[in-house]
Order: sequence, then C-alpha cells, then structure tokens
Amino acid sequence: MTRICFVCLGNICRSPTAEGIFRHLVAQHGRTGQFAIDSAGTAAWHVGKPPDTRSTAAAAQRGIRLTGAARAFTAADFERFDLVIAMDDNNHAVLSRMATTDAARRRLHRMRDFDPDSPPGASVPDPYYGGEHGFEDVLDICQRACEGLLEVLLEGPG
Ligand code: 4NP
Repeated sequence: MTRICFVCLGNICRSPTAEGIFRHLVAQHGRTGQFAIDSAGTAAWHVGKPPDTRSTAAAAQRGIRLTGAARAFTAADFERFDLVIAMDDNNHAVLSRMATTDAARRRLHRMRDFDPDSPPGASVPDPYYGGEHGFEDVLDICQRACEGLLEVLLEGPG
C-alpha cells in the first residue's frame, strides 16, 4: 500500500483535482487496492468545504469526480503518508519547514517533477482568481503528472 497526499494552498482546487485524477487513473489500471489517496492544504481558510465548483465542473467534463472536504495539512501527515506532493513553490516551502526529519524530507516532492512536459521546479499554477482556462490547465498538468507518478510507482526506481 502506497499512501499519497497531494497538497496545495486551500485544498479546494488543485490538490482535490490531483487526488481525483490519481484515483481515477489508479482505478483504470485496476490498482485501487494498492493506494491510499488524500489531499490537504497549507492554509486552513476553507476547512470543511467541498472542492471549488469550478474545479468540480471542469473535472466532471472529463469524467472525473472530485470528492472530500478541505483540511489543513499537519506535521503528523508526514508520518501518515509515503509521498507528500506539493503543487507549487510556496506549498513546497511551507511543507519543507514542517518536515523536521530526514524521513519526512525524503517524502516531500513537487507535483510537476512527475510531469514530463515541465521544466525542473515548475509549479501547478493557482487557478483560484483566474478564468475558466486556469482550471483546464490544472487538469491537463495534473493528468500528465499523475500519469508520470503512477508510472514511477508501478515500475519502481530505475
Ligand atoms: P488551491 O486554490 O490552493 O488550488 O485550493 C486556492 C484556493 C483558495 C485560495 C487560493 C488558492 N484563497 O485565496 O482563498
């Protein structure tokens, strides 16, 4: 069982999108039982809320269901998950400060490091204050990164 937590700022747009896409992809590969998939935010503003309706609508167009209620990431999550995947630089910096052990630091990754079309260190752009196409971009990026991530996990290192 591999436990994965996707992390953004509010846990209502990007990380629930990544969670929904990864869950869908894993199901398509018949691997549902092998993964525990969750998401969280580095900010607590939207705790308890469902994913943003713009994210949910854009994902539904692609047959992907977004579920869950927003929650804030805590330091203890570094012990509950094997992989903690940050959507952008800011999230990565906040999570780096919360990762106080070598084991925790090894678990922390950047989402776009799994996206083959991405330059090194790139972010998943925050769609919250933008137009509809931001949500489509997030879906495209998360789809590519989730495929890259699953490939790494199914094939193993090397
Ligand atoms: P997310 O997007 O981090 O992808 O969930 C945001 C959600 C809310 C806010 C910013 C980004 N906000 O400022 O409330």
